[in-house]
Amino acid sequence: GEDDHLVSRPPVVTIMGHVDHGKTSLLDAIRQANVVSGEAGGITQHIGAYQVVAPNGAPITFIDTPGHAAFTAMRARGAKVTDVVVLVVAADDGVMPQTIEAINHARAANVPIIVAINKIDKPDAKPERVRSELLQYEVQVESMGGETLEVEVSALKRTNLDKLLELIALQAELLDLKSNPDRPAEGTVIEARLDRGRGPVATVLVQRGTMRVGDIIVAGSQSGRVRALLDDKGANVTSAGPSFPVEVLGFAGAPDAGDRVAVVESEARAREITEYRERLKRDKAAARGAG
Ligand code: GTP
Ligand code: NA
Ligand code: MG
Repeated sequence: GEDDHLVSRPPVVTIMGHVDHGKTSLLDAIRQANVVSGEAGGITQHIGAYQVVAPNGAPITFIDTPGHAAFTAMRARGAKVTDVVVLVVAADDGVMPQTIEAINHARAANVPIIVAINKIDKPDAKPERVRSELLQYEVQVESMGGETLEVEVSALKRTNLDKLLELIALQAELLDLKSNPDRPAEGTVIEARLDRGRGPVATVLVQRGTMRVGDIIVAGSQSGRVRALLDDKGANVTSAGPSFPVEVLGFAGAPDAGDRVAVVESEARAREITEYRERLKRDKAAARGAG
């Protein structure tokens, strides 16, 4: 059958936690990048998707989510496409409302949590307090007798980053993640926008199969033909397999974040699907209007 050829794929790891607990800083430290410095007010307002090669040579896909209270939908979306949630809790601030929200998203998505207690460099860091606060939300870390993997880190001082990557690799191994790269691609739109020069740009996480330049794609009620694929560094790639995040150029209009993406065999088929979905949308709107 279609899924005969299963090969292991990289884990997709979503970083979640309360605003300013250091999610982007931690990813920056791991990637040796500096995304934080470019953010307005130091607040993450979108989802970022990156690929990192761990010290053991294995790739890991990271999704950075915003911690601000306003961005619940993005956090839910991040949890939905992920294999593992890294829950970042600042050791000086402790468990806060969006920490709890993140725990609930991970639970709803049935995804294991790795706890990263961040900012342990701070003089007022209280990692012990974080661990006992987490217990109240039924997150029991190993040092408290539970099974949830945990690590104390400092994004600022780059403390224990390798340990965190090791835990991710360990968790991924337990999950035994596999996917068939030899089939038409399917995935999820992480986010999409209309770029002034390039037109609609969709960040897509490929989940099964391989997406290639030239493929005919459908997402929600949008379709198109892949004109270019760009990796997280903006470099052109010719294809993207399972767990790879890519920017897709070639949609006629920007799809919605959260839309499923699929490669189809012909433009006629793409038209059929999008017209059907448009009709459903109109019928629903009409039904709402009548009711
Ligand atoms: P949102 O995405 O807006 O929710 O924030 P975030 O969780 O991505 O936090 P961000 O990386 O923007 O960091 C917030 C602040 O905490 C910044 O001023 C960072 O420099 C600081 N910070 C992050 N990690 C550490 C750390 O390990 N130690 C110390 N002392 N400060 C840190
Ligand atoms: Na921030
Ligand atoms: Mg951030």
